[in-house]
Amino acid sequence: MPNWVFAANTADIPEHRGIEVVIQNQSIALFRYKNDFYALRNQCAHQHAPISGGYVYEGYAVCPHHQWKFKLTDGSFINNETLKLPSYRLKITGGRIYIDREDV
Ligand code: FES
Repeated sequence: MPNWVFAANTADIPEHRGIEVVIQNQSIALFRYKNDFYALRNQCAHQHAPISGGYVYEGYAVCPHHQWKFKLTDGSFINNETLKLPSYRLKITGGRIYIDREDV
């Protein structure tokens, strides 16, 4: 059963960009792409840099450090889909974004 916790307002996230939120001491990157929203663990699979400072390119979050790309919908690495960042379910209502605490 989902346990939704407030994460951010939709207006806080520019199109094609991400922000960091912290839920239960876990850093999470929230991205906006084509007016939809996605959440991935904010730790790159390459050298563990935060990906929230990156940008979105064609449905992928791009790490700002060495440009590794992770699919927004499930966190899979573009060159090897078995390598994944954890992704989180979201609920958006009234311009507010909630993350399922059970996923974190
Ligand atoms: S730390 Fe993300 S691509 Fe290198």
